[in-house]
Amino acid sequence: MPTPHNSFHDTPIAAAAARASQVLTPGASGQLPRPINTRVITVANQKGGVGKTTTAVNLAAGLAVHGLKVLVIDLDPQGNASTALGIDHRAPDIASVYELLLGEVDIRETVKQSPNHENLYCVPATLDLAGAEIELVSLVARENRLRNALNDQAIVDYGFDYVFIDCPPSLGLLTVNAMVAAREVLIPIQCEYYALEGVGQLLRNIELVQAHLNKDLHVSTILLTMYDGRTKLADQVAEEVRRHFGDKVLSTIIPRSVKVSEAPGYAMTIIQYDPGSRGAMSYLDAARELALRANTAEAVTP
Ligand SMILES: Nc1ncnc2c1ncn2[C@@H]1O[C@H](COP(=O)(O)OP(=O)(O)O)[C@@H](O)[C@H]1O
Ligand SMILES: [Mg+2]
Repeated sequence: MPTPHNSFHDTPIAAAAARASQVLTPGASGQLPRPINTRVITVANQKGGVGKTTTAVNLAAGLAVHGLKVLVIDLDPQGNASTALGIDHRAPDIASVYELLLGEVDIRETVKQSPNHENLYCVPATLDLAGAEIELVSLVARENRLRNALNDQAIVDYGFDYVFIDCPPSLGLLTVNAMVAAREVLIPIQCEYYALEGVGQLLRNIELVQAHLNKDLHVSTILLTMYDGRTKLADQVAEEVRRHFGDKVLSTIIPRSVKVSEAPGYAMTIIQYDPGSRGAMSYLDAARELALRANTAEAVTP
C-alpha cells in the first residue's frame, strides 16, 4: 500500500506559502548574523539592464526582513532604486544624493526611511544627478565625495549593518565615487548572450581604483540574474561565469520572473510585493548567502 502523502509542504504552492508567512511574521524568519563592521557594497556593471537596481533593493529588503539595518544609496539619476523603496524622488526640494555629493546638505537630511520596512533606508537620487558627473570634475576630492559623506558620524550613529550603492550604467565619476566609498563590489551578471562583455573593463577599473584610491576594494560577490531555465544558453553562461569567478559566485541564481519586474511599479521590492514568489525566495536566499559569507570573510580579514 502506498504511504499516505498529505504533508502540508508537499506541494510547491503550500511550501511557498509557508515560507512567505515566515518572511512576513516578524521574528519568525530567524535573524541573520550582523557583520562586525558595516559592509559597504557597490553594485556595479556598466551594462544597463543586468539587474543592478533590482539586486540592490531586493538584497537590501531581504536582509532588512531578517533584522538587519540596511541603507541603499541610489547613485543612478533614473532613481529606480528610490522608487522601488517607496521614496518619492520627484518630490520638490527633496534632499538627495546629488546635494550630498556637492556638499550642500548634511547626510542626515538625505537618509529616508522606506515605508516598505522599518529597517530599510534610502538616500534617493533625482534627475539632477545626471549633471553631477560633469559638476564633480571641478570639485576638490572629486572621487572621495561619497566616502567622506559616509564617514560622517551621523551615518555611524545610524548603525547600518549594510550599505548598498546602486551604480548608474557607466564607469564615470559616480561609479568611481561608489568604488571609493565601498570595500566590496557585487557584480550582477545577466544569464544572456554577451554576459561577460564589458566585465573585463569593469575589473580593470576596479584594479585602477584599488591601486590609486581605495586599496581595500575587491570583488566579493557575483550574482547570476534573470536566469531562464528553459534555455541551454543560460546554463552555459552560468557555467562560464563560475569557471571565471569560482566561489565568488553565489550558489543562488535569480530566475527571470515577471513578478520581479512588476514590483517597482507598485513602489515595492519583490519581498513586499509577492513574498511567496520564486523571485522573492531567490533574493531572500541570496541575501542569506551574502550575510553568512560575511562572517567567514570578516574572520579571515585582519
Ligand atoms: N529576475 C528578473 N526577472 C524579470 N525581470 C527582471 C529581473 N531582474 C530585473 N528585471 C527587470 O529588468 C530590467 C532591468 O533591471 P534593472 O535592475 O533595472 O537593471 P540595471 O539596474 O542593471 O539597469 C528592469 O525592468 C527590471 O524590472
Ligand atoms: Mg539601475
